[in-house]
Amino acid sequence: MATKRVALVTGATGGLGTHMCKKLYDDGFLVCGNYRSREKAEKWNEEMMAQGYNVYLYPADVSDFDQVGDMIRAIEKDHGIISILINNAGITRDGAFRKMSREAWDAVLDSNLGSVFNCSRHVINQMIEQNYGRIINISSVNAQRGQFGQTNYSAAKAGMHGFTKTLAMEVASKGITVNTISPGYIATDMVMAVAEPVRNQIISGIPVGRLGGTEEIAYLVSFLASEHAGFITGANYAINGGQHVY
Ligand code: CAA
Repeated sequence: MATKRVALVTGATGGLGTHMCKKLYDDGFLVCGNYRSREKAEKWNEEMMAQGYNVYLYPADVSDFDQVGDMIRAIEKDHGIISILINNAGITRDGAFRKMSREAWDAVLDSNLGSVFNCSRHVINQMIEQNYGRIINISSVNAQRGQFGQTNYSAAKAGMHGFTKTLAMEVASKGITVNTISPGYIATDMVMAVAEPVRNQIISGIPVGRLGGTEEIAYLVSFLASEHAGFITGANYAINGGQHVY
């Protein structure tokens, strides 16, 4: 069993997840990464190994409660109790609300918010037993400010922080912290998929004048995951280049 603290990053193979895995690894955690697409994960793993990063990969659709349960049990069997959970997996299905299908609503709510329930629920009692834990929920600036075409995404991401605040209260006396990070527009595939004119218009509204870097999110993740952050709980950190100040 691991002597290092075990961290699980959901959606590990995405833009934000990749840098989180690297930073947590550099900072001495045993890092497990969750993925959904095997093909992408295999290529990702090869690239990470070539760069010296040994991340243990586990498949699961995080919107599926039972699949998540199987994944968590497998990680516990291989490495021990998960001390750090980063709820990072997420999808977009953008479109004006008047045209949005129920399917696009459900998919985004299930993947972005249902997943937070599924993963947190499957780790929380072991964290309580060991009297230590860190849960970090990756939300979005668009939860705080709204964004044309994202009623589903904004609702799910705003729900995450409501979850954070209440769970933080419930487990504060058990050595467990629960926090939210709300990234702005970061240079990931998800953001690059936004049509260029729309994206350029968005960037023009970011006072720092550029998209954020994935490593700029990973640094805060690793700090909140550390033992130094034990007095920070129920908080929501904006990292958005000044796009939304409140
Ligand atoms: N602001 C104001 N009006 C807009 C608009 C905007 N951003 N986008 C479209 N409209 C208008 C259109 O001009 C059109 O008006 P009319 O009916 O009068 O002609 C109407 O809204 C409908 O437009 P569309 O038919 O084009 O709408 P759509 O449903 O096809 O989709 C959209 C529009 C593609 C979603 C577009 O609004 C868009 O790209 N929005 C940005 C989405 C975005 O930022 N996504 C972020 C993804 S990354 C991410 O989410 C990470 C993170 O956390 C930050």
